[in-house]
Amino acid sequence: MKYDIHIEDTGEHYPCDEQETVLLGMAKLGRKGIPVGCRGGGCGVCKVQVTQGDYCTVRAMSRQHVSQEDEAQGTVLACCIQAQSALSLRVVGKLHKAVCRAVPGALLGAGVAGSAASTQPPV
Ligand code: FES
Repeated sequence: MKYDIHIEDTGEHYPCDEQETVLLGMAKLGRKGIPVGCRGGGCGVCKVQVTQGDYCTVRAMSRQHVSQEDEAQGTVLACCIQAQSALSLRVVGKLHKAVCRAVPGALLGAGVAGSAASTQPPV
């Protein structure tokens, strides 16, 4: 089954199979510059904040990049989760720069990890 993933920062949507990670689905957008690093939860380049929807964690995330508190608030590594419903997410850190760079009108300046303000939609 495929679920719709919405990248709030750019307004893009992509389909993601429940058997693949959210990062792999994003990479299939085919856009240049989406960093696909270790794919194992270790390098931290694929950080996102899930704002809506359900997902499951399929591998451990480096605590160097995602604290337990961050994870509890929906900040996760996209290579470590699989969608269990349609998801809405914001890209964070290096991934934010890479994803938003080539999209006119993208929400530049967003993407602060762990900030309560980052969960709010832009006004
Ligand atoms: S690609 Fe390295 S942590 Fe996700």
